[in-house]
Amino acid sequence: MSKHLETLQTLTEYIIKDHPDLLAVFAQIEASTKIIASKLRSAGLEGNYGITGTTNVYGDKVQKLDDFANSLIIKKLEATGQIKMVYSEELQDPVELNKSGKYIICMDPLDGSSNIDVNLNLGTIFSIYDAKDFENRQLPNGDKQICAGYVLYGTSCMMVMTFGDGVDGFTLDTELDSYFLTHQNITMPKSGKNYSLNENAYNSYAEPVQGYIDFIKKEGNRKTRYAAAMVADIHRFLIQGGVFTYPETKQKPKSKLRLMYEISPMSMIINQAGGKSLSFDGRKLINPLNIIPQEHDQTEPIILGSKENVDEIAKFYKD
Ligand code: AHG
Ligand code: MN
Ligand code: MN
Repeated sequence: MSKHLETLQTLTEYIIKDHPDLLAVFAQIEASTKIIASKLRSAGLEGNYGITGTTNVYGDKVQKLDDFANSLIIKKLEATGQIKMVYSEELQDPVELNKSGKYIICMDPLDGSSNIDVNLNLGTIFSIYDAKDFENRQLPNGDKQICAGYVLYGTSCMMVMTFGDGVDGFTLDTELDSYFLTHQNITMPKSGKNYSLNENAYNSYAEPVQGYIDFIKKEGNRKTRYAAAMVADIHRFLIQGGVFTYPETKQKPKSKLRLMYEISPMSMIINQAGGKSLSFDGRKLINPLNIIPQEHDQTEPIILGSKENVDEIAKFYKD
């Protein structure tokens, strides 16, 4: 099939048309993710596998490429002169880039880092906020995101994003080194048979999650899909339907995934694609976009996916 690239909108055209104020920021996100994609492709050849020997604020072993992606994106964003603060999963504390910058960025520079050394899918997750909304330095909360997006470094490299008016996806043409709009207005199926959940933690889960696992096993027509990179799992579910959950456990009621870097952006994307996202505050299910972060490294339980699948899990919390 010929590509007819001349008929497809480039990422640059898309941003010029509807979000010209963010042209510089997107130019730099685009540049960073292209460099990361290329670095990942050649990691085995260039000796870039392995860990740095340090741990991040969550106690995770930092991989060399986590560090690389984090520093690269910050450097590229700084060059725009438009970013006030960057909050990152790989930073102990946020960094102020320009006191009078217009935007705040939150990011997970490399999602799924355990996949680096085994040559599997990874991602970058980002959110953009208006700095004016957070003048006295309170932490940015999900429902104030101007834009949320991710890049999936998969068999091809894709950028998927929302500005609060639907979800669009761009595929990187490596020959021309440009992202092209290939997935316009992504609408996720209302339900799907695939699910991502670490069933090995069954004994640690509370009753609702155990009840759900018992139910789907009895039903017996689902398939587990677990990529160890939520970007990859979420992308699958956006296209094919299904549900991703990293729930609370008896030992970790606040679970693992990070509110500002993973949960808020992915929730906005899923909601905009017609899916649903729920967190659990210890008593009831809540909209994660309404959670006001108290700490930048705050984690929360999360259920994200096709509306009917999320509602199906939610039923077990009510009984
Ligand atoms: P990161 O690589 O940024 O630390 O994130 C990994 C996250 C998420 O993407 C993935 O779904 C989950 O952690 C996997 O965690 P487990 O290894 O505990 O299953
Ligand atoms: Mn992550
Ligand atoms: Mn990460």
